[in-house]
Amino acid sequence: MSAPSQTVIRGFIPSDINPIHALSLDALSLTRTLSETHHTLMGRNQVIRVFASQTEGVVGYALGWQAKDMAELTEIAIRTDWKGRGAGRQLLNDFVQQTRLLGAGTVDLDVKDSNHIAIGLYESIGFAKVGIRTKYYRDGADAYLYSLELS
Ligand SMILES: CC(C)(COP(=O)(O)OP(=O)(O)OC[C@H]1O[C@@H](n2cnc3c(N)ncnc32)[C@H](O)[C@@H]1OP(=O)(O)O)[C@@H](O)C(=O)NCCC(=O)NCCS
Repeated sequence: MSAPSQTVIRGFIPSDINPIHALSLDALSLTRTLSETHHTLMGRNQVIRVFASQTEGVVGYALGWQAKDMAELTEIAIRTDWKGRGAGRQLLNDFVQQTRLLGAGTVDLDVKDSNHIAIGLYESIGFAKVGIRTKYYRDGADAYLYSLELS
């Protein structure tokens, strides 16, 4: 059996754009172009954290923004063959920690009502459900709004 590969959570570097774009289409079913992903990643106040394996490169990312005392997680995705191994939890904890260091007092996010895996992750980290946007998604699903108070 081969040894598990070393992993690191780090900031964004330009060569991450292509793997993040591919992951966003695959794991989040987004339909944006590479140029749109590039534009999103380069936006103001963006916080981008990357979960990388020494041997496999980028296997997950968390993306959001922070401004003054507010922050929002807008995307989090782990490559399919890395799911269920703790990477998502580490990445989300790291994202929260980064936004806290930048001055955020809360982190908000929204999630599709049927995404039980993500909801389980958010609630286990301490996010509380604070609202619902009815029929928010194109398929008619609701969005649950979650918020985490940072102490
Ligand atoms: C949601 C996602 C980021 C979680 O990452 P992950 O690395 O698979 O999750 P982890 O292994 O760190 O597990 C964290 C928690 O998620 C939940 N979870 C993970 N896999 C699960 C499964 N198969 N069934 C139910 N809950 C699960 C559990 O609460 C788990 O905590 P536990 O291990 O203490 O039980 C990942 O599944 C993903 O990329 N999903 C597709 C994209 C997505 O839906 N993003 C969120 C959009 S809002």
